[in-house]
Amino acid sequence: MNLELQRTDLLPARHYLGGEWCEARDGRRLAVTDPATDQVFAEVPDGGAEDARQAVEAAHAAFASWRQVPAKRRAQILKRWNDLVLAHEDDLGRLISREQGKPLAEGRGEVQYAASYIEWFAEEATRAGGEVIPAPVPGRRMLAVQEPVGVIAAITPWNFPAAMIARKIAPALAAGCTVVCKPAEDTPLTSLALVRLAEQAGVPPGVLNIVTASRERTPEVVDVWLDDPRVRKITFTGSTPVGKHLARRSADTLKKLSLELGGNAPFIVFDDADLPAAVEGLMAAKFRNGGQTCVCPNRVYVQAGVHDRFVALLAERVGALVLGPATDAAAQIGPMINARAVDKIERHVQDALARGARAVVGGHRVRNERCSGPHYFAPTVLVDVRPDMACACEETFGPVAPITRFETEAEVLAEANATPFGLAAYFYSADVKRIWRLADALESGIVGINEGALAAEAAPFGGVKDSGYGREGSVHGLGEYMHWKYLCQGNLA
Ligand code: SIN
Repeated sequence: MNLELQRTDLLPARHYLGGEWCEARDGRRLAVTDPATDQVFAEVPDGGAEDARQAVEAAHAAFASWRQVPAKRRAQILKRWNDLVLAHEDDLGRLISREQGKPLAEGRGEVQYAASYIEWFAEEATRAGGEVIPAPVPGRRMLAVQEPVGVIAAITPWNFPAAMIARKIAPALAAGCTVVCKPAEDTPLTSLALVRLAEQAGVPPGVLNIVTASRERTPEVVDVWLDDPRVRKITFTGSTPVGKHLARRSADTLKKLSLELGGNAPFIVFDDADLPAAVEGLMAAKFRNGGQTCVCPNRVYVQAGVHDRFVALLAERVGALVLGPATDAAAQIGPMINARAVDKIERHVQDALARGARAVVGGHRVRNERCSGPHYFAPTVLVDVRPDMACACEETFGPVAPITRFETEAEVLAEANATPFGLAAYFYSADVKRIWRLADALESGIVGINEGALAAEAAPFGGVKDSGYGREGSVHGLGEYMHWKYLCQGNLA
């Protein structure tokens, strides 16, 4: 199986600024590496401050007309974009798998997931109405209307290179905002292909602009956007330290912010749980995208009465997972994104093993005929994990399930909430009273109750505490890109 594209023009390998595909102003290029082999297979521009400025100029100029385009027309363009994305599911899936490393079935699945947000916000665009407010005095008419906030800067991660862009850009365009976007340096190609399809769908020049940049040059690009008062909102998915930096740096121009940051999700299995369902839920939640997902369980707590049985069932499933490159049709877990990622996973596992945890499955890097590159880590189950181990207090972002035995609900609830993060939490129980107690008490933006697969365009996605603020998807996702304006007409009596 190869990952070549049918439509090679989906690889423009250029910035898109003001409706033109162009090189970085100073001609610098950024190499794109295949995580399966660690070999460079493409290049894109390595943008800097000048490119970032040009992007804002274009987006600012286009805002005046885009905001006036009727919502129904914006919805039609988004629907066409959605149709084009779905029509190119195969090519886009290949591109995602090539630059991100996930198995092709997951790459294709991500294309559908991305399209679901575009379709959702195409439909929401036409429903962004306002309010007529009963006036407290005679002779007045009072209304509240919604307006697009202006130019949006979208800074997106590498783990879902299509879905995260779609989830930010589709609501922005639906609301009447214009966009400057900087995709992750590891996965710039999918975003350029999506922009190519948006152009084809009829998104006018300047409405959507994209600058690709290396890790070293990213601060230069983002600083321009942070300092420019015409950029009215930053939407970011990534680490908590970077999110806090963006929040601090946006203070001078008081930008609106949506921050989808790090997680440390607990996954709790009670004695009364349906164990096979809990194992399946953990497999889906933990091993999706090789564990490189903000919402994936990072700490697994299993009650003493079912601990050993659960570990045995899980070990059997994890031990059977096939590791390999996306070109291998049998692969279920791909390589990790880069050397930094696999080094961190190894550090977490070594730390746990050195401090008394045991690897029931995996626990090491893999390099063999099938997995010939340097970024593979064996799907791993650790037991006897304690809260002070690195894998329980930092986000591992890899295929490692660290298990801790617990005795009581009170003990596990305190432990689950004993983290600065609050993006996702999961638990399995058949006790309806316990279900509502925990649903209330877990400090988390998202809670999976007897369910491991939570992602859906119709649901509000986002966290609390150090996992950030703002919601993506759902009926609330559009409002993140709009503000309310109060209109009051007097002297009518
Ligand atoms: C993420 O990892 O940030 C997104 C995961 C998802 O959409 O389910």
